[in-house]
Amino acid sequence: MNTPIPKDIPLSLPLPEWLLVTLLVVSFLLHIVFIQLMVGGSIVTLWAQIKGLKNKEYDTFAHEIAKTITVNKSMAVVLGIAPLLSINTLYTIYFYSANALTGFAWIMIIPLVIVAFLLTYLHKYSWKALENNKMVHVSIMALAVLIFLFIPLIFLANVNLMMFPEKWGTIQGFLSAMTLPNVFPRYFEFLGACIAVTGIFIVWYNGRKSYAVSTIYSVFKVVDLKRLGYRITILGLGLQLFFGIIVLFTLPSKGISFELIGIMVVAGGLLALALWFCYKTLINTDEYINLHFKKIIFSMLAFLILYGGSRQLYRHHSLEKHQSLVAANTKEFQRLSKEARENPVVESELEIDPSLGEVAKGAAIFQANCAGCHKQNEKLVGPPMTEMVSIYEKNEQGLRDWVRKPGKKRADYPQMPAFSQLSDDDLKELSKYILSIK
Ligand code: HEC
Repeated sequence: MNTPIPKDIPLSLPLPEWLLVTLLVVSFLLHIVFIQLMVGGSIVTLWAQIKGLKNKEYDTFAHEIAKTITVNKSMAVVLGIAPLLSINTLYTIYFYSANALTGFAWIMIIPLVIVAFLLTYLHKYSWKALENNKMVHVSIMALAVLIFLFIPLIFLANVNLMMFPEKWGTIQGFLSAMTLPNVFPRYFEFLGACIAVTGIFIVWYNGRKSYAVSTIYSVFKVVDLKRLGYRITILGLGLQLFFGIIVLFTLPSKGISFELIGIMVVAGGLLALALWFCYKTLINTDEYINLHFKKIIFSMLAFLILYGGSRQLYRHHSLEKHQSLVAANTKEFQRLSKEARENPVVESELEIDPSLGEVAKGAAIFQANCAGCHKQNEKLVGPPMTEMVSIYEKNEQGLRDWVRKPGKKRADYPQMPAFSQLSDDDLKELSKYILSIK
C-alpha cells in the first residue's frame, strides 16, 4: 500500500485533547445549525419567491425569511472559527493534507462565500427597488442558492478526504475527492437537515409574541405559517432519514464500530420521532398546532448531539491506526535526529588510488558523491555512466552544468540532487574521469 506516513510536528497540544475534541464537536454543531438556517433559508426564500409571483402572500413570506438569512449567516461565520481552529490543531497533518489536495476548490471557498454573502444582502435590500423586475430579483437569490449549495460540497469533500490517507496518493483535486463513496449521501443528508432545521425555525419564528403577523400578512394567519413550517420540516426530515440510511451503508468500513452503528440507529429513530410528531400536528386541528412543538425540538436537538458525536467517533476510528503509525514514525525520526546530533559525521578525506593515474582524483570524487546512485554499466538510481558518456562525449561543459544544476529528463527516474558545493576544479576532474569511461 502506498499510504503516506508523514512525521508529526513534535509540539504538545495547547489544551488537553478531550477538551479540544469537546470544543470541536460543540462549536461545530453550533456553527452547522446556523449554516443550515442560512442554506435552508435561502432555498425556502427562493421557492417562496417564485410561488409569490402568483400569490403575493408568498412573496411577503419570502421577504420575511430573507431578512433572517443575513443574520444567520453572520452567526454561522463567527461560530465557524472555533471548529476550524480546533480541527486544525487536533488533526493538523490530516486537515492540511486534505486542504492541499483539494487546493484550488478549497481556496475558492473564500471568493465564493464573499460573492454569495453580497448577493444575499443585495437581494434583501433591493426588494422595493426591483419590485417591477421580479425576474432579476429572483435570479439574484437563485445565484446565491447555487453558490450556497456548492460550498458545503467543498467542505464535505475535504473533511471526508482527511479521513482516508490511503487514498491521498490517488486523489487529484476536488473532483476526484468527491468520488469517495460517501460524499454524496452525506451531502444530501446535510441538505435535508438544512430544510428540516429551517422548517422548525419558521414555526418558532412566526410564533413569537413580538412578531405581528397580522400587520405583515393580509391573508396568512400565525397558524398557516406554522403549518407551512411543519410541512417544510417534514420534507427535510424525510430527506435526512432517507439519505442517512444510505450514509450508514456507504460509510467505508474502517471507521465503523458497533458503538457507531448503535448511535446512528438511535439518531435515525429520533428523526423518525420528530417526523411523526410533525405529521400528528398537521393532521390535527388548528388549536393543537403547538402540542408537539417542544417534543419535535427536543428530538431534533438530541439527534444533533448524536450526529456530532458519531461524526467524531467515525473520524477517531478511521484515523486511529494511521495516527499510531505517524507517532511511531515521528519517534523514530526524533531518535535518529538525536543520534545524529550526538555523533556528528566527520568529513572523510578523499581516498585517492594513485594507480588510476591522471583520473585518480576524479574517480575519488565520483566515489564520494555519485557512486550511491550511478554504476558503470547498469542503472542504479540514475542512469549508468556509459549513458552519461554517450550524451556528453563532445560536451564536457554540458556535463558540468548538469551536475551543478540537474534538470528533469527521464519520466521514470526521480530528480537528481544538485551538487553546487563542488568547486570548478573538482568538476573538471570529475568530468575528465566520467568521460574516460569506455
Ligand atoms: C541521489 C541519486 C543521485 C546522485 C547522488 C547523483 N545522481 Fe546523477 N542522476 C540521478 C538520476 C535519478 C538521474 C536521472 C535524472 C533524469 O533523467 O531526470 C541522474 C542523471 C545523471 C546524468 C545524466 C544527465 C542527462 O543529461 O541525461 C548525469 C551525467 C549524472 N546524473 C551525473 C551525476 C554525477 C556526476 C553525480 C555526482 C556528482 C551524480 N550524478 C550524482 C541520480 C543521482
